[in-house]
Amino acid sequence: MRVFITGGAGFIGSHLADHYVAEGNQVTILDNFSTGSKSNISHLEGKITTTDGDIRNIELVESLTKDADLVLHMAAALGVNTILESPLESMRTNITGSEVVLNAAAKFNKRIIIASTSEIYGKNPNQPLTEVDDRVVGAPQKIRWTYSDAKAIEEAMAFALHQENRLPVTTVRLFNTVGPRQTGRYGMVVPRFVQAALKNEPITIYGDGTQSRVFCHVADAVQAIATMAATDSTIGDVYNVGGTGEVTIKQLAEQVLEVTGSHSEITYTSYSDAYPAGFEDIQRRVPDISKVKLAINWTPTRDLQQIISDIAAQ
Ligand SMILES: NC(=O)c1ccc[n+]([C@@H]2O[C@H](COP(=O)([O-])OP(=O)(O)OC[C@H]3O[C@@H](n4cnc5c(N)ncnc54)[C@H](O)[C@@H]3O)[C@@H](O)[C@H]2O)c1
Repeated sequence: MRVFITGGAGFIGSHLADHYVAEGNQVTILDNFSTGSKSNISHLEGKITTTDGDIRNIELVESLTKDADLVLHMAAALGVNTILESPLESMRTNITGSEVVLNAAAKFNKRIIIASTSEIYGKNPNQPLTEVDDRVVGAPQKIRWTYSDAKAIEEAMAFALHQENRLPVTTVRLFNTVGPRQTGRYGMVVPRFVQAALKNEPITIYGDGTQSRVFCHVADAVQAIATMAATDSTIGDVYNVGGTGEVTIKQLAEQVLEVTGSHSEITYTSYSDAYPAGFEDIQRRVPDISKVKLAINWTPTRDLQQIISDIAAQ
């Protein structure tokens, strides 16, 4: 099979590339190396085809889509820092870029998986979150919500293309996916904590640390995505993909110290000191994954301890 991965030099995209190469497929990736890196895919040199380019380039995206059997759309601008520092570029990538990729898949009638996000749900306090739950987001001028809005537009476009053009698309809402190769540079909490712990530097918690998340190992997420791509009954539908075991950010910091044997101290800083104006955090984010379990018989198998030790060992 020929697999085309947008954002294939990124964190999740490069793990998908590993998976499909290992299964004997032909893999082509398109990436502009904005947050992705050559080092994520250097071990695949000679085994994949890499194009350095932008998903907003219609001609390029169409030519790569035409030659593929499966499209995995992972390219996006993400990470709190990226969104807050480059809001226009981020919105253009996530809205215009995704439209280009979806239109190309529709034009050539290709199976496509799009990566959406738990950010879709915004600050909906009703946890755990199921796929039909409402979006509760702040004002558009609070820039952090533009990522959620852009991804919601992408999901809606995919849904409409499925309804009007029979596009064979499945939407995957990823919740806090973590693991080796994820960078801490753009505000991702787990790699940031692990990197600080390994250097015995202070681990800085933003806010009071009572906010909680559920983390999912990237290897589990890749398994879910690949199984969904191979299961036609998921076409036209949307699925949460996330881990199990809710932890507060303070508990996460403590577990990082324990697993890495670090002597780092835990320090706290306010959100207003950590981020530019326009940031609001979410107190809890917990996925309900019963729908994906039922659809593809998938369940995450790696716990937080394994996640932390795999990141520390990379
Ligand atoms: N990691 C998570 O916890 C998480 C959670 C929810 C959703 N997602 C989604 O999963 C997907 C992959 O995320 P990731 O964590 O691997 O992030 P990532 O930043 O590592 O990967 C995104 C990739 O897209 C590339 N890219 C960005 N803009 C581009 C453009 N205009 N043209 C071509 N390439 C471009 C980047 O260089 C990068 O390689 C994204 O769609 C993201 O929104 C991730």
